[in-house]
Amino acid sequence: MTQDELKRAAALAALDYIIDGTIVGVGTGSTVNHFIDGLATKRSRIRGAVSSSEASSARLTAHGIPVFDLNDIETLPVYVDGADEIDGGFCMIKGGGGALTREKIVAAVSERFVCICDASKRVTTLGRFPLPVEVIPMACAHVTRELSRLGGRPTLRENFVTDNGNLILDVHGLSITDPVMLEAEVNQIVGVVTNGLFASRGADVLLLAGAGGVERYERGLTSATPV
Ligand code: A5P
Repeated sequence: MTQDELKRAAALAALDYIIDGTIVGVGTGSTVNHFIDGLATKRSRIRGAVSSSEASSARLTAHGIPVFDLNDIETLPVYVDGADEIDGGFCMIKGGGGALTREKIVAAVSERFVCICDASKRVTTLGRFPLPVEVIPMACAHVTRELSRLGGRPTLRENFVTDNGNLILDVHGLSITDPVMLEAEVNQIVGVVTNGLFASRGADVLLLAGAGGVERYERGLTSATPV
């Protein structure tokens, strides 16, 4: 199977987590695009979606799925999103697509985070994928210096502006042994909107697609179950 076929397999497995009559939290990225396309076949079962990006909103709307404002909702039973890396403790690096801030906001409101990935995203230690950091434009040089002090090599993502009108610094060279601490530390830098470590609020379920099929991992359980 190609990587895209694996992404699709993980995404379609997440449809089992949708609760009838509810609003679904929807992430961003190529894996989530498969989820949105699958969700369209179940449109009559859900009230609609809350989206983490303009791109996902456009795709949901094109399928006729109503997109709700998060401010009109108190809680979301399920949020489905991909990741750039996920470790054994269900901590993730996200933001390869630049939607990390809205993703983190929707995840914060959700009761259950279902992460959908192909097997290449599973890592022992986070950090080979550069850590995305969303930055207020006037603070870019200051944040770059501070991130360098933390031992990373930040590079400005070229020709990219987030949905919130900000910039992204991709931080290379980090070996992230304490993701909860680093997430908090980077967020303390003045000018940082948020960073792509999803550690204090990680995933609850991982649907991991590999050559042998889709495996389901639940937070707190060590073994996988086939989907
Ligand atoms: C978007 O900002 C990201 O967090 C994505 O969820 C993540 O990069 C995974 O993307 P793919 O599904 O395209 O690999």
